[in-house]
Amino acid sequence: MRIHTYEKLWLAGSFVLIVGFIVTITYGSVGLGITMIDDEANTVTPDEIGSDDRFSDPRVEQVGEDEYEVYVVAMTFIFQPDPIEVPASSEVTFYVTSRDVIHGFEVAGTNINSMAIPGQVAELTVEFDEPGTYGIVCNEYCGPQHHTMEGSLVVTPESEFSQTELEVNAPEEVAQGDEIDLTATVSNGLLEARESTVNVTIGSQTTEQSITVDGESSENVSVTVDSDELGSGEHDWTVSVDDQDESGTIAVGNESATSESVPIREPDRGGSPP
Ligand code: CUA
Repeated sequence: MRIHTYEKLWLAGSFVLIVGFIVTITYGSVGLGITMIDDEANTVTPDEIGSDDRFSDPRVEQVGEDEYEVYVVAMTFIFQPDPIEVPASSEVTFYVTSRDVIHGFEVAGTNINSMAIPGQVAELTVEFDEPGTYGIVCNEYCGPQHHTMEGSLVVTPESEFSQTELEVNAPEEVAQGDEIDLTATVSNGLLEARESTVNVTIGSQTTEQSITVDGESSENVSVTVDSDELGSGEHDWTVSVDDQDESGTIAVGNESATSESVPIREPDRGGSPP
């Protein structure tokens, strides 16, 4: 059988096209790592998110050296946590679910993009090389405020990344002559120990203390100031460590006024039976 040259060319061209299509589809589904949320994926009962270990407290959690897990809950019309803060040059795995309806979880300008489906947990692993701030948008219509549903992802330089929390216990009022005891509890949520500097300012007095807090634990820093040195009146205090700060006011009263202080009665505004 004799095949015309042009016919051979068309046959060869069609063959190249068919192979090309198969290659593109295979690359698109396997090579780029695009996956569907399937039956084998993790699940969570939407009604029980409040008592679920992973999602009751949406958070960023360090799970290994340079390895982090982020538990994200989407709901009308917010993402939790917001902002999401992760360190650069680390492997970050996002677990995303929804509390109510279908939402989207897209980190604008990256290829991080998933549906957030109630009952299903989407899993995405990425690594950010450079620090920066990204917007997170919901790209599935989820209700009247869909267009306002956004969050942010902050990629912090590795050396600046911390999960420090600060709680301060300070009196609101002391008598003149008494000592003012202020205690700051600094907790470190990371796995490794972290060195930090705690700055405490009470009135015009400033102290600085270096502390090392072990991984997943906390340390107390106490500062004592003689109220005589501050004088009577109101004094502002601030405590800062890493990116955290707390502030308040301490009133130093006259000895006589505080020792004989009488509880203040709210004036009766009526409404309750006599
Ligand atoms: Cu959530 Cu659109």
